[in-house]
Amino acid sequence: VSSGTPRRRVGILFGGPSAEHDVSCVSAMALLRALPAERYEATAIGITADARFVLPAVDLDAPVVDTGSAMDDHLVAAGRAVALVPGHDPSTAAVVGLDGTGEVLAELDVVFPLLHGPFGEDGVVQGLLEAVGVPYVGSGVHGSAVGMDKVSMKRAFAAEGLPIPPYRSIREADWLAKPDVDALTEGLAYPLFVKPANMGSSIGISRVTTADGIAEAMALAFVHDDRVLVEQGVDHAREIECGVLGGPEPMSSPPGEVRVAGDWFDYQLKYFSPGDPMIVPAQLPEAIDARLRELAVQAFQAVGADGLARVDFLYDDEAEQVYVNEINTMPGFTAHSMFPKVWAADGIPYHELAGRLLDLAFERHARRRRLVDPA
Ligand SMILES: Nc1ncnc2c1ncn2[C@@H]1O[C@H](COP(=O)(O)OP(=O)(O)O)[C@@H](O)[C@H]1O
Ligand SMILES: [Mg+2]
Repeated sequence: VSSGTPRRRVGILFGGPSAEHDVSCVSAMALLRALPAERYEATAIGITADARFVLPAVDLDAPVVDTGSAMDDHLVAAGRAVALVPGHDPSTAAVVGLDGTGEVLAELDVVFPLLHGPFGEDGVVQGLLEAVGVPYVGSGVHGSAVGMDKVSMKRAFAAEGLPIPPYRSIREADWLAKPDVDALTEGLAYPLFVKPANMGSSIGISRVTTADGIAEAMALAFVHDDRVLVEQGVDHAREIECGVLGGPEPMSSPPGEVRVAGDWFDYQLKYFSPGDPMIVPAQLPEAIDARLRELAVQAFQAVGADGLARVDFLYDDEAEQVYVNEINTMPGFTAHSMFPKVWAADGIPYHELAGRLLDLAFERHARRRRLVDPA
């Protein structure tokens, strides 16, 4: 980059109304600290738990507090109320104060929606960014929506012939009209996992070992969504995750493993268990390693993802059988998260990964503009 190259103005959206608000606040701070100031001019835009957009106070000179638990050095989504609107120049966004002055507080060339879960990762914010017309990191509306909704996601995987555990889905109205456990679970072997279609962070998910537990698990899942998935548990499951990076020709990272202490990776373990349960790269037979990397790209393409994703697998260690569990189109991006770690294992350090994601956002925007306007 020559000294004459203008700095790219990057907006980082963080926080948001989902259960993963705090993870996002940590990711945003890590990203802000990592973006080289000579190439990027970053503006952090917080989204509060009740989905208002605000400009927070950011102090990058404050000492980094890193105790290894990944939850200490973070931004706070609070501050002056703003709106994100189309900018004066084409393909830019403006951050406008909502305090009556209508002042333009920042202009953006690209937005990094560093948000997880419903609202930020499911196409809602992506739709806003499409409407504003600014390039943004990651999947579009469709890929985000299909990736977030477990029913649509499993259907997309199944349609592409990807190996997934047997499952059934049911709507709340149909379950309430006829809560027949035998019909629901016919052909599925226990333990079963009962999951709301549209959540994340293991919230609303139950592991059920006998038919007696189904009704309660269904009631819990229906608190979070009106469609629920009942899925056969994978025996001896090791949890392996692969990063995917790119556009039309994406590449996958070496797999990493999350060592789960309990029966499964529930909310408590995910966010509140001490220590570092990640093994990167995962220790796997060579053929399995290659198979996972191939399946990760296929899963990415099956849901129409773009830019980045983390594909999570369940690996039955005894049968040497691999299952795709899910795709996350905006994976955790703290310094301690799996996605940056697996790429670091492949020789791409955190700050370089961030730069590549921003480049991919511009490439995707250019591709899509050609589709809209072939001239
Ligand atoms: N079919 C399954 N077999 C074994 N364990 C599972 C299965 N489905 C989910 N789990 C366990 O539950 C956790 C959460 O399920 P997941 O589908 O990944 O939901 P979330 O989107 O909330 O992360 C997984 O990390 C894993 O520990
Ligand atoms: Mg998961």
